[in-house]
Amino acid sequence: KMALLSATLLALVPFTVVVTLSTGSNKCVPRNFGHGSVVCECNSTYCDSVGSVTLPPLGQFSSYLSNKAGSRLEESQGQVHVNSTGAGLRLTIVPYQKYQRIRGFGGAMTDAAAINILSLSPGTQDQLLRQYFSTEGIGYSVVRIPMASCDFSTRLYTYAETPEDYNLDNFTLAPEDTKMKIPLLQRAQALSPRPLSLLASAWSAPAWLKTNGALIGKGSLKGQPGGKEHKTWAQYYIRFLEEYAKHNLSFWAFTTGNEPTAGRMTNYSFQALGFTPAEQRDWVIMDLGPALQASSYPDTHILILDDNRLLLPYWAKVVFSDVHASKYIHGVAVHWYLDSFVPAELSLGTTHHLYPEYYLFGTEACAGWSPVDRGVKLGSWERAEQYAHDIIEDLNHYVEGWTDWNLALDQTGGPNWVKNFVDSPIIVNADRDVFYKQPTFYSMAHFSKFLWEGSRRVGVSASQETALEVSAFIRPDGSVVLIILNRSSSVIQFEVWDPAVGYISTTAAARSLLTLAWNTH
Ligand SMILES: *[C@@H]1O[C@H](CO)[C@@H](O)[C@H](O)[C@H]1NC(C)=O
Ligand SMILES: *[C@@H]1O[C@H](CO)[C@@H](O)[C@H](O)[C@H]1NC(C)=O
Ligand SMILES: *[C@@H]1O[C@H](CO)[C@@H](O)[C@H](O)[C@H]1NC(C)=O
Ligand SMILES: *[C@@H]1O[C@H](CO)[C@@H](O)[C@H](O)[C@H]1NC(C)=O
Ligand SMILES: *[C@@H]1O[C@H](CO)[C@@H](O)[C@H](O)[C@H]1NC(C)=O
Ligand SMILES: *[C@@H]1O[C@H](CO)[C@@H](O)[C@H](O)[C@H]1NC(C)=O
Repeated sequence: KMALLSATLLALVPFTVVVTLSTGSNKCVPRNFGHGSVVCECNSTYCDSVGSVTLPPLGQFSSYLSNKAGSRLEESQGQVHVNSTGAGLRLTIVPYQKYQRIRGFGGAMTDAAAINILSLSPGTQDQLLRQYFSTEGIGYSVVRIPMASCDFSTRLYTYAETPEDYNLDNFTLAPEDTKMKIPLLQRAQALSPRPLSLLASAWSAPAWLKTNGALIGKGSLKGQPGGKEHKTWAQYYIRFLEEYAKHNLSFWAFTTGNEPTAGRMTNYSFQALGFTPAEQRDWVIMDLGPALQASSYPDTHILILDDNRLLLPYWAKVVFSDVHASKYIHGVAVHWYLDSFVPAELSLGTTHHLYPEYYLFGTEACAGWSPVDRGVKLGSWERAEQYAHDIIEDLNHYVEGWTDWNLALDQTGGPNWVKNFVDSPIIVNADRDVFYKQPTFYSMAHFSKFLWEGSRRVGVSASQETALEVSAFIRPDGSVVLIILNRSSSVIQFEVWDPAVGYISTTAAARSLLTLAWNTH
């Protein structure tokens, strides 16, 4: 209520005062844990925020800067010039080169995320949810929800534990859903100015439907696509949609299952369900697609793969080789692990050019997963750069949005029942009833807060070779957003030229992420 009131007041006071108030009263409370940069500490009564962003009138631009030195979405404004400043490097916006439209950005409401959020006092819980979902937050619109347990759970369970229950008469949501995830999702939805795009992914089918009789390890569905196990597994998805609908939560999409290649490895250590691309294709065409179309939710999108993008274009070629695939499938979901092994143009670019009718969407990413760089690192700027680098690369290769993994973790990077601890943009410290916004939180913000749904990626050309990584967009209201990552050590001044408005003279500070935005009318 307080926040709404002050937002309304801010809208009424003169422009220069707005800037002073919104930056002065909402600065980051920095804490340095010795990992290169700072985190911003938040509690029930205080959290840094840039508020709800309004761009200055035509002829001026806004700039938001985060960097290793400790700036966090630091706002400033400047004049757009009529003439070039003669800087060596010029980035030119090319509005007639039009690419994909943005769907959204977000994170996952895992059991672990819910446990961590609920470990805080109610006031601090609200503060945390506002950071992601409210107008003064960073504009998350996508939430991925595991269907039953995954590694970020404290126990192994599915929604259909009665053996041979092929009609799913005993299908029932878990306490993790009804007592934790669903109430939090409802609160997130209430804070959000727009309907959230919910996305569901299952990790494992019930053990009695699987070849190995267990949720973990190497195993797939018994029988063949079209058989009773495959039909029941399709119906499980429909029952899930029905149960969540009873709580007023409807889904934009679900995937065909998390990381199908995991369940094909020897003795995989946590919940998995193996599919070959051919089996996934036939299951969708014979079972899942028809079940969804016959259900009350025929408009829910089906996304295939939900696994590392280096499996492309191979996986897409196998699935889309069947002429019936397009009747049921809308897109291809990718994870970011192992991205550095295959160029984005080869995996994402080729897939888009072969199958432009299917969209690409990022469904999972996190820092701290690699054995050589494990777990939580409070204040790591390298990890912020990893995020921004990957998001820019994905966006520049037709991906329509990017979903982070756990919305919140504890200081060890869990809970996780197999101790597969990783990092998160928000780390909670329940003992002190505070949470830390990591540099990766701001990486997400530089995109999620500015790239509204429907924003269109456009061309941007550089006048000379540059180490800057950039991506440009035109939003539905005609304003332009340019995101610039500087991981380099080369010193160069540069300017931005938008033929529609003029020249912007600026610098990308050392080790920084910069979002520039301006009106065009
Ligand atoms: C919350 O943080 C602010 C800023 O650091 C501080 O002034 C305030 O006392 C804290 N409130 C609580 C309840 O700890
Ligand atoms: C822009 O350049 C033109 C031609 O060089 C010059 O005549 C004009 O005065 C310049 N305008 C501004 C605002 O500097
Ligand atoms: C499954 O459902 C049936 C019918 O509703 C009920 O009689 C039975 O007790 C349930 N079994 C389990 C294990 O929950
Ligand atoms: C369900 O959600 C819609 C939109 O999010 C909202 O308008 C409505 O009040 C909700 N209904 C219930 C029963 O919560
Ligand atoms: C599989 O892994 C589990 C521990 O994750 C271990 O107890 C078991 O012996 C392993 N089985 C095989 C066949 O390697
Ligand atoms: C990028 O950062 C480096 C230091 O890491 C700095 O020297 C350079 O000036 C920056 N680049 C631009 C274009 O401002």
